Amino acid sequence: MDSGSGIVFDFFAVEYELSLIRLDNISFGYPNCGQVLKGLDFVVEKGDRIALTGGNGAGKTTLFHIILGLLTPQSGRVLLFGKECREEEDFKEPRKKIGLLFQDPDDQLFSPSVIEDVSFGPLNLGMSREDALAVSRKWLDRLGIAHLEKRVPYELSGGEKKLVALASILAMEPRVLLLDEPMAGLESQAIKRFLSTVEKGDFDAVVIITHMPQMLGSLVNKKLRLEEGKLKEVLSPTDEPLC
Ligand SMILES: Nc1ncnc2c1ncn2[C@@H]1O[C@H](COP(=O)(O)OP(=O)(O)O)[C@@H](O)[C@H]1O
Ligand SMILES: [Mg+2]
Repeated sequence: MDSGSGIVFDFFAVEYELSLIRLDNISFGYPNCGQVLKGLDFVVEKGDRIALTGGNGAGKTTLFHIILGLLTPQSGRVLLFGKECREEEDFKEPRKKIGLLFQDPDDQLFSPSVIEDVSFGPLNLGMSREDALAVSRKWLDRLGIAHLEKRVPYELSGGEKKLVALASILAMEPRVLLLDEPMAGLESQAIKRFLSTVEKGDFDAVVIITHMPQMLGSLVNKKLRLEEGKLKEVLSPTDEPLC
C-alpha cells in the first residue's frame, strides 16, 4: 500500500509543475494574408506577470485568440493546464479559468445594462443571482465604476466600456488573466485603479498586451515582444520596444 501512496504523491508533484499555458511551435496565417505566427513557443507559469508588446499587426491579439481556441493554428500544439486542446470541446473547461479581455470591448458587451453584462459570466458559471450580483458589484466598485451599474453598455465612452468589460472578466474570478490592451483609452485615474486591481488580485498568472509596458512598473516580472511571428524576451531597457 505504501508504494501506492508514493505514486499518488509523485503524480500531484508532476501536476503542480505543469505550465498553465503552453504553446509549442504554433504557426498561423489568415486567408489572403501572410503567416502571422511562425513556429511560436509560449509558456505561462504560475506567478508570471507578463507584458506582451509588439508592433501593430504583429499578431498579439491573434495569439490570445489561439490560446482560447477562438482560432485554430495551422500547426503546433496548445496545452492548457497540462492538457492538449484541439477540439472546441477541449477548450470549454479551461475557458472558465482563463479570463480574456478583448481588445475591443464591443466584442464583449451585449446586455441591456452594465450589471447584467457583468453578472452574466458568474450566472453562467452556476452562481446564484444574489451571489452573482454581489460579486459583480464588488468588481464594479473596485474599478471605480459602481455608478455605471444601470447604464446601457453601448452608450458608454470607450474607456468606460473597457472598465465594464474588465469587471465582467474579473467577476468570473479566473485563475489566469489575458488582457488585450486594457489601458488603451483609459484616463490616468482609471489606469491607476486598473493597475492596483490587478496587483491586489489573486491570480495564478497575468499576461497584458500593451504599448505602454513602462506604465506597468513592478506589476510585471517578464517582458516579451512579438516580432516576425515569434516571441523574444525583452531583457534590458535598450531592448524596450518603440511601439
Ligand atoms: N480576421 C482577419 N482576417 C484577415 N487578417 C486579419 C484578421 N485579423 C487580423 N488580421 C491580420 O493579422 C495580422 C495580425 O493581427 P493582430 O493579431 O490583430 O495584430 P496585433 O494585435 O499585434 O496588432 C495583421 O496583419 C492583421 O491585419
Ligand atoms: Mg491587437
